[in-house]
Amino acid sequence: MRRPEIAVALDLATPEDALALVAAIGDDASWYKVGSMLALSDGSALVRELVKRGKSVFLDLKWHDIPNTVAGAVASAAAVGASLATVHLAGGRRMLEAAAEGRGSSRLRLVGVGVLTSLDAAAFSRVVGRDVREVAEEQERLMELGLGVLDGFVAAPSETARVRRVAGESAFLVTPGIRPAGDSAGDHSRSATPAEAARAGSDLLVVGRPITEARDPGAVVRAIRAEIAAAD
Ligand code: C5P
Repeated sequence: MRRPEIAVALDLATPEDALALVAAIGDDASWYKVGSMLALSDGSALVRELVKRGKSVFLDLKWHDIPNTVAGAVASAAAVGASLATVHLAGGRRMLEAAAEGRGSSRLRLVGVGVLTSLDAAAFSRVVGRDVREVAEEQERLMELGLGVLDGFVAAPSETARVRRVAGESAFLVTPGIRPAGDSAGDHSRSATPAEAARAGSDLLVVGRPITEARDPGAVVRAIRAEIAAAD
């Protein structure tokens, strides 16, 4: 069974807050996710600082633009030292190929986002202009655009096992919406525990508020790691 790593989502107001959290967690986490909020407040300096501290950075900016622009964004992400970044599968095959080329000789991995979990079948039907019965089918259709081009996919907990079957063993799967066993689900209607996501075949679990809002963030990270290690 896979033993996924944890990416702490740095959904905090300032780079100073983010670095204070990273220092508080210390050696217990090696991955950090930087999103739009921090990226727009001196984000490249923050990414470089995290890399300098030996951390792997997941830059979650979910690009969806013309191929040339996305290729440039990917090249910039590689240049600041990010290890992982997201693109929208709905940008189309050419955009995804341009994104992959934008990596150059770097080791930046790219994962595709399909249908946002905030959209249900009715909402997604309005996006595509036809009746969508099941969001999972649409997710699979979108994934086909990224197969053989990207390194992997972002998958909600409820989809991870299915995405693993479609994407194959070598794909890198990222799962948000994780809540440690015993935690209240917060605003995720479809969350999973770390052990469940590990069993479903995830490689990287994204965890935000259960860690960032904890009195002892390092202890929460250690508890999640223990849960993953004990999963069977
Ligand atoms: O809920 P939590 O604080 O753990 O969320 C962590 C991160 O995962 C956030 O940055 C959020 O944007 C992301 N997320 C996501 N898709 C979801 C749920 C959360 O990308 N379905």
